[in-house]
Amino acid sequence: KFAPVILAGGSGTRFWPRSRKARAKQVLALDGERTMIQQTVERLTSVVDPSEVWVVTNSLLDDLIAEQLPEVPRKHILSEPAARNTAPACALAAFLLESTAPETVIGIFPSDHVVKNKARFAEVIRAGIALAASGEKIVVLGVPPTRAETGYGYIELGETVDPAQVPHSGVVVRRVKRFTEKPNAEVAEQFVASGNYAWNGGIFLWSARTLANAIREHCPAMAPLLEKIAAAHRVSKEEFERVFAEVYPQCENISIDYAVLEPRSAKGEAGAEIYSLPGDFEWNDLGCWSALHEHAAGCPPESVSVANVFEGEDPLCISIDSTGNYIHAPGKVIALVGVTNLVVVQTKDALLITTRERSQEVGQVVAQLKSAG
Ligand code: GDD
Ligand code: MG
Repeated sequence: KFAPVILAGGSGTRFWPRSRKARAKQVLALDGERTMIQQTVERLTSVVDPSEVWVVTNSLLDDLIAEQLPEVPRKHILSEPAARNTAPACALAAFLLESTAPETVIGIFPSDHVVKNKARFAEVIRAGIALAASGEKIVVLGVPPTRAETGYGYIELGETVDPAQVPHSGVVVRRVKRFTEKPNAEVAEQFVASGNYAWNGGIFLWSARTLANAIREHCPAMAPLLEKIAAAHRVSKEEFERVFAEVYPQCENISIDYAVLEPRSAKGEAGAEIYSLPGDFEWNDLGCWSALHEHAAGCPPESVSVANVFEGEDPLCISIDSTGNYIHAPGKVIALVGVTNLVVVQTKDALLITTRERSQEVGQVVAQLKSAG
């Protein structure tokens, strides 16, 4: 049995002004017609029935997500009473499922990714599920790095696993030697230059029991809190809601990468069975406007910086001596004259002007708006 758990509680502040609290990026159609979370479920439908999907989000987004995902059972859409980062969100699913079906393979899927080659994605995930179903294994996704990105985790790759052990031919699995979450620029450069590292793609596959046991081992304070919540879930909906609201906020605020992957991998290959799947299906984390520009430009990486991307309904666009700009201004005639690498995003009540290079910093706008009340 396979249960995908979609993490959809992040706020995505770097997509201001299109993203707002009640309109975080996962419920936006940043790329095409379907929203990020709809695309996340869609790409899993060739692997699993949507009735098996779980979503962990918050009460600002849950109703909208339920509307966008009518095929996912409403009782599988959980709203955290407080955001505690990804470790408690992943652990919640593990403890809920462990008591009834401990062998269930849980797949953790972020809701802020785009994948171009969906058939390959499905093939790789199927191989990962089969691998994770056999014993106390942790299966992660290793994406070939193309730059020394400091916003990602890094996976040091070890030996190639004997193909006879991997139930799907054509999916080359490597052992993981060491996991390092978000290194500094210098370390990231060394990693990429060595050729022996992959980016952590943020997708994890493990049985409910393996994940719950990993939480017991690495987050001993968090485990009993989740046991309590899972016990209440077995009693009734009302009891679950009461205990969840009271107990969940006491969980440590920490990501699954720092909480489990880093310490587990530090035990060495003999002490931890961690495997890396090949993320060779044109994966992209849509983290900020410049990432969206690259994705939407739809051209080879070397020519991305010359392509202008205009978004809106059928915009009339004129570009004179202008390259590498990302402009979102629905319903406007857009004209560019002699500008390069700008990001301009207009919504009904806000206007953002920045450069592609600095679009990572847009989150600070939200922080300042917040403190300004
Ligand atoms: N339910 C819930 N609650 N979801 C959350 C929370 C939370 O408190 N915080 C974040 N999420 C969701 C986000 O919406 C996203 O879908 C996913 O969890 C990952 O969180 P991010 O905040 O986007 O993480 P990241 O991108 O900085 O880093 C992670 O992903 C990278 C790849 O995209 C790490 O796993 C890195 O190692 C990895 O390289
Ligand atoms: Mg992310």
